[in-house]
Formats: sequence, structure tokens, C-alpha cells
Amino acid sequence: PLAATGELVAEAAAARTAVAAFNVITLEHVEAVIAGAESAGSPVVLQVSENAVKFRYGRLLPLARAASAAAERAAVPVALHLDHVQSDDLLRQAPGAGFSSVMYDAARLPYDENLTATRAAADWAHARGLWIEAELGEVGGKNGEPALDAHAPGARTDPAEARAFVADSGVDALAVAIGSSHAMTTRTAALDHDLLKRLAATLGVPLVLHGSSGVPDDELRAAVAGGITKVNVGTALNLAMTGAVREFLAAHPEAVDSRKYLSVGREAMARTVARLIGVLRA
Ligand code: G3H
Ligand code: ZN
Repeated sequence: PLAATGELVAEAAAARTAVAAFNVITLEHVEAVIAGAESAGSPVVLQVSENAVKFRYGRLLPLARAASAAAERAAVPVALHLDHVQSDDLLRQAPGAGFSSVMYDAARLPYDENLTATRAAADWAHARGLWIEAELGEVGGKNGEPALDAHAPGARTDPAEARAFVADSGVDALAVAIGSSHAMTTRTAALDHDLLKRLAATLGVPLVLHGSSGVPDDELRAAVAGGITKVNVGTALNLAMTGAVREFLAAHPEAVDSRKYLSVGREAMARTVARLIGVLRA
């Protein structure tokens, strides 16, 4: 059934675990995430990012409608989250498209502007019953920028600043920069667990890990133990899908029917989803 992100995150926090949130681009991603979550027997968040909307010719509704129809029929609770929203126009489409939550991303802006924009977004979202996540201290590697080094001083969230930001903006959760980086294709990120501990002790809201594809299993487990309650995964699904499709087409150069390779790609993504959910739960 369709669930609310805020409830899944609250349940995860109460159980001292984390809810997995997967970025979806195609209908095959949607089906794979739900199939993986069903086989793991766990709730899941389906995320549509602003970049994915751009890929879909700027239209949110077709993929959102497919995702909510699939969520309604799922055997586990599935929530819809609009991810990395920079455009106010897109933000305003969230409630009508079935999303219970948004991540408002003004982390590229200087602190004061980020706070002003995020506070306005939070007020707007809360008036419509939406749960809202924001970010402070940019997690590097978005939009083709070079991924910041895991220990780059610029890619860290300052606890005192974050505390003020959360209190002044009124957001429900914060994406923290603790050493992960977007779009990593190797799982080599080293997280700053000391910083995570301080952030978890300082902030009164759930913490979100972005760029989780580049984080090894043991680091993910430690992050959950340290207070991360939502784990965002995107690139790992593309790695699984593209690798499986590439392998299939190399072995079957005569293949024409797109269902042949899309089903192989979809199964590879579903296995990745089930495996990662298992890591977070352990
Ligand atoms: O918001 C989405 C996540 O941060 C995905 O990051 O593609 O590096 O796993 P990733
Ligand atoms: Zn992200």
C-alpha cells in the first residue's frame, strides 16, 4: 500500500534502523524497487529526483502516476518522495502527484539564502501535510561536478550550524555531509562516524545519508547504528541494471525484443534492492 515517508522514517528511527530510499528513473526501476522490498519484506521509499523529471521531458506526472499505482498494489508499505528539488514549480506539484515528502535542495546557496529558501519551502510543505528534508553542507558530485574527496573539508556538515539551520527552517529531517559523495561507482567512501555521532546528538531530527551507493556495507551498518535513519541509493541501481543489460546483449547479439534485456536489468536491480535493505536491517 501507499505509505507516508514521515511515518516510515519515524518507524525506522523507533526501531533504530533505517528506511532505504531508492531513486527511480524508469518503470522498470519502480517495479524492481517494489519487488526487492517485497522479497525483503520491508517498507521502502521510491524517490523521483528533479534530474529524473528533467529526463522525462520535464514531466513529473507520468512516472509519478505509475509509481503510485505500483505502490498501491505493493505487498509492503511504499512511500513516494520527491528528491533534490531546486525548482519551486516542481515543489508545488508534489502533493497533487501523490508524494508525501520532498527533499528541498538549496545546499548550493550561501547559508542565509539556503535558510530563507528552505524555511519558505518548509512552511509551504507543512501547510499541505508534506514531510520535508533539506541539506546543509553539499554532498559533492551532483550534476557532473567532480565528486568531492571523501575527506574534503568543504563536504562536511557543521553540527552547531546544522542545529541552528534545523531549528530556524523547521525541516523534518536533514541530509548530512559526512563523507559520502553522489554517483560513486565504487564502494570506497569512508564516513566520518565521529561527526555523525555529534550530529545525531546535536540535532533533534532524523538524519539522511545521500550518495549511499559509494558506501561499503560495514560503513552503512555503522552509519545506521550512528543515527542515520534514511539511506538514499541511486547509482547502485544503474550499475546493476546497466551491467546486467550489457552482459545480456554481449551474450545475445541477436536479441531484439526489449523485454528480454529489460527483464534481466530489472531483476538485477531487484536483487540489489533486497540485498541493501538486508544490510540496513542487520
Ligand atoms: O538523493 C539520492 C542519493 O543521494 C543517491 O546517491 O546515486 O550516489 O547512490 P547515489
Ligand atoms: Zn542525494
